[in-house]
Amino acid sequence: MSSTHNNGRAVFNTKFGAIATTVGSAVGLGNIWRFPYEAGVHGGGAFMICYLLFVLLIGVPLLCAEFCMGRGTRSNIFGAYKKLGDGSISHIAGPLGIIASLLILSFYSVVAGWTVEYCLSSLTGGLDFSNREVGHGQFLNLTTGWRPLLWTVVFLIANFTILISGVTKGIERASNILMPLLFLLLVAFCVNSFFLPGFEEGMKFLFTPDFSKITSGVLLGAMGQAFFSLSLGLGCMMTYASYFSSKNKLGKTAATTALLDSAVAILAGVIIFPAVFSFDLSPEAGPTLVFEVLPYIFNQLPGGMIWSTLFFLLLFLASLTSTVSMSEISITYFCEEKKMKRKGATILSSAIALVGGLLCALSFGALSDFTIFGMTIFNLFDYLSSNICLPIGGFICSLFVGWWVDKKFIKDQLTDYGKYKFPLLGLFRFCVRWLCPVAIFIIFLNSIGIV
Ligand code: PHE
Repeated sequence: MSSTHNNGRAVFNTKFGAIATTVGSAVGLGNIWRFPYEAGVHGGGAFMICYLLFVLLIGVPLLCAEFCMGRGTRSNIFGAYKKLGDGSISHIAGPLGIIASLLILSFYSVVAGWTVEYCLSSLTGGLDFSNREVGHGQFLNLTTGWRPLLWTVVFLIANFTILISGVTKGIERASNILMPLLFLLLVAFCVNSFFLPGFEEGMKFLFTPDFSKITSGVLLGAMGQAFFSLSLGLGCMMTYASYFSSKNKLGKTAATTALLDSAVAILAGVIIFPAVFSFDLSPEAGPTLVFEVLPYIFNQLPGGMIWSTLFFLLLFLASLTSTVSMSEISITYFCEEKKMKRKGATILSSAIALVGGLLCALSFGALSDFTIFGMTIFNLFDYLSSNICLPIGGFICSLFVGWWVDKKFIKDQLTDYGKYKFPLLGLFRFCVRWLCPVAIFIIFLNSIGIV
């Protein structure tokens, strides 16, 4: 973080740093863990095409909208709505974003905890997925009982430690190196996928859209995934943009983030599905899919243990760059709106996430029979945040930016007060005024069976 301050707030050092950190927030378990499992549950190709369309038509415009609000006001989500509106909207959008961020942080920490477990098990040579029964038994062994509780706590402590050391000093530096490394590793695994016997079947599953499979559930799932993966709808990108310098071109940053984020998700799909079909597993396994499939890949690779350790280590770090960003939402809110000290705000957010995280971790063990609306606590937190809170947050943001906020303010943000061109301004306006809110609204109505 630079020593330059803007209204008393820190600013990202470089343009590259700002993009890398934004991509660091977007790229995480959402791409590598959540995307394949959602695609698997929702029929592969049909899900993929909807997801990509949502990224392009809703994701990119909303990223621009959040960036404008964040950088233009240099505030947290609550403050941004308050400065640009009349306060009442901030009382809806603010708490919604903060609740969503804490729900996500809770279940995310459990999955991130699995990455720690898998990294250590790989390192000690304890990961054996030589056949289906052993593989599944081992997964259960590693993710039930007291161990996931421990790793969830360990993960949250790591997250806390980074947060308490100031506004992301280390993260900016770390993401600059680690994200490209993770990307390279994924590309290497993709090349390996090409040689698996199930490559063709996997590719067909992922890339051949069967339009008859596009149901309301697929649409809602794909929209939720686009929001989740781009860290949209909860003020996360708004908060990060409040640290951007005026030199950052917002449109370009949004496009780059969406492109890289989708690329990582597609790479993850290309790695997972050929393996699913090669090792005779089911694409519909749900949240456990990636953790059950990846070890098979590592098992058949020369030096698999090293690949596996490295991969889960990088995934753990990619998760950290995402959880740090989602924690910032509530921390900046508690600091700037409730006048708490950063340390107190960090302790409060972490404590809430700890309680939520432990409940989610227990969903795979002692609380596995405890369901609400037919979902375990883990699944409920995931569904509520990704498929409900984030799209509602996006809906409010698009209407707000499209209809309420002064046009000139948005134009000034997108063009840095006329210093450069933003040729897609008309299209952007159309998307935030009409396309995004109408699409989100219809998908919601559709999912509750009205349209
Ligand atoms: N986008 C992150 C991921 O894909 C998750 C995230 C969601 C981060 C919401 C911040 C806010 O892993």
